[in-house]
Amino acid sequence: MRRKIIAGNWKMNKTTSETVTLINQLKPLVATEEADVVFCVPTISLTTAVEAAKGSNIQIGAENMHFEENGAYTGEIAPGMLDDIGVRYVIIGHSERREYFAESDVTVNKKVLKAFEHGITPIVCCGESLTQREQGVTIDFIRQQIKIAFLNVTPDQAKAAVIAYEPIWAIGTGKVATSAQAQEVCKAIRECIAEIYDTDTAAAIRIQYGGSVTADSAAELFAQPDIDGGLVGGASLKPDFGKIVNYK
Ligand code: 13P
Repeated sequence: MRRKIIAGNWKMNKTTSETVTLINQLKPLVATEEADVVFCVPTISLTTAVEAAKGSNIQIGAENMHFEENGAYTGEIAPGMLDDIGVRYVIIGHSERREYFAESDVTVNKKVLKAFEHGITPIVCCGESLTQREQGVTIDFIRQQIKIAFLNVTPDQAKAAVIAYEPIWAIGTGKVATSAQAQEVCKAIRECIAEIYDTDTAAAIRIQYGGSVTADSAAELFAQPDIDGGLVGGASLKPDFGKIVNYK
């Protein structure tokens, strides 16, 4: 049985002092033994967030990282820097990074490989645009994203990875995918992993749904057989996140 993983993606929200306040506010609300709980926060607040979350069930993740060990990459953050301060997860290839910061499937793959080298679990994002959905190419597009993201990733690494299916048309729009739409794609992702690796790997990898998840929609989405939790944007910044974590 796969353990659920429910992660918040804070995006570019909250100052460092607000981060401490929000973590302290959410700590009792997200306390559960039944799921992994991850807060992915802005880089500048990572050290403080790791400190603030100590002694709780909250693990801290980054929202991005570079794929090189170090070097002349002004403004970037190296995987070893995350590892050094106790960051255990990193979101890779969020659609906002692909759209606004020119991330490609190839850079996503390099980052995934690098995260594993440092023992950091990548949350690998994929998802189609509204146009692609209307053109009927959703599954083809996502299979391509997954196949490239997992190039040269070993089966053992893939088993430990997290994939977040986030349809772009559902992000920040209040238009949540139906549970049937989300399940259909998450199942296809699992089948794709089975093709690349084997059924054991496919059965182990955790696949989240993301896109306008709220306390009202979480229970039905997370009850789908191939949905192992969520990657939550807006609602992760509010006490509602506690209800999403304790969705049952
Ligand atoms: P919303 O939950 O705000 O739609 O954001 C989803 C998302 O992009 C999480 O990574």
